[in-house]
Amino acid sequence: MKRILSIMVMSVLLMSLFTIPAFAAEGGEPAVQEQQQVVNVAHRGASGHAPENTMAAFEKALEMKADYIEIDVQMTKDGELIAIHDTTVDRTTDGTGFVGDFTLEEIQQLDAGSWFSEEFAGEQIPTFEEIVDTYRGKVGLLIELKSPGLYPGIEEKVANVLMERNMHRPDNNKIIIQSFNHDSVQTSKQLLPNIPHGVLAGMSWADVTDEQLQEFAAYADYFNPNRNFVDKNLVERVHQAGMDIYAYTVREQEHADQLFEAGVDGIITDFPEYVYDFPGQK
Ligand code: G3P
Ligand code: CA
Repeated sequence: MKRILSIMVMSVLLMSLFTIPAFAAEGGEPAVQEQQQVVNVAHRGASGHAPENTMAAFEKALEMKADYIEIDVQMTKDGELIAIHDTTVDRTTDGTGFVGDFTLEEIQQLDAGSWFSEEFAGEQIPTFEEIVDTYRGKVGLLIELKSPGLYPGIEEKVANVLMERNMHRPDNNKIIIQSFNHDSVQTSKQLLPNIPHGVLAGMSWADVTDEQLQEFAAYADYFNPNRNFVDKNLVERVHQAGMDIYAYTVREQEHADQLFEAGVDGIITDFPEYVYDFPGQK
């Protein structure tokens, strides 16, 4: 009898282990582990707080516990990969001219911080390798091939940096390569088949069809659109095509909230703090 009783007690205990999570949240809400999580991507680093695409901005993103840093990669005259958004240095440094007309040594003499605030005076344009070596394993890397048409061979250069460090393995799921140039995304995917790739989609893709989404899904894992044309329907269609969706660029809390409601998988933002407060968000 004692044995039967102890078996019954054990059974009840075991059953409760499996049923407690279903009742864990109040008011019939799903348990915490079932709630929506949104990947927090710091756009050009935490660029609302520090000069974009500098180590200061990437460091700030890490401090703010972003899941990924987004990096715009271009190439110098002497073939070095660097992080900068515009194809000229005019807006974000104290110099003028096209990125591709500077050698690495020349471009690193420019001040990439003062335009944002005197606090960042002397901040340099970082190399892609420096960023990768500093942040690999610490935060995800969302690598944008920026204006790759200007830099023949940039896909191979990026691939080499990752392969030299054994970062092209199938289980390396915190690296994503994306571009507005979809030919470049395809070239990169061929070089790095185990790294997830994304197609960036500006407003000209606002009426993207299911057929086009399926074409993208043949080589891309992410469809990353301008936030202005994101709604629940688009999110569902992207998911149906088998891709995830990270929307850009959030600079207001209200816009982050709208994207959360639409059900996006990730939000690319200058202000990582806008992605913290959703229900269930870690
Ligand atoms: O990652 C998406 C976003 O960076 C694309 O736009 O112009 O900021 O590079 P842009
Ligand atoms: Ca970018």
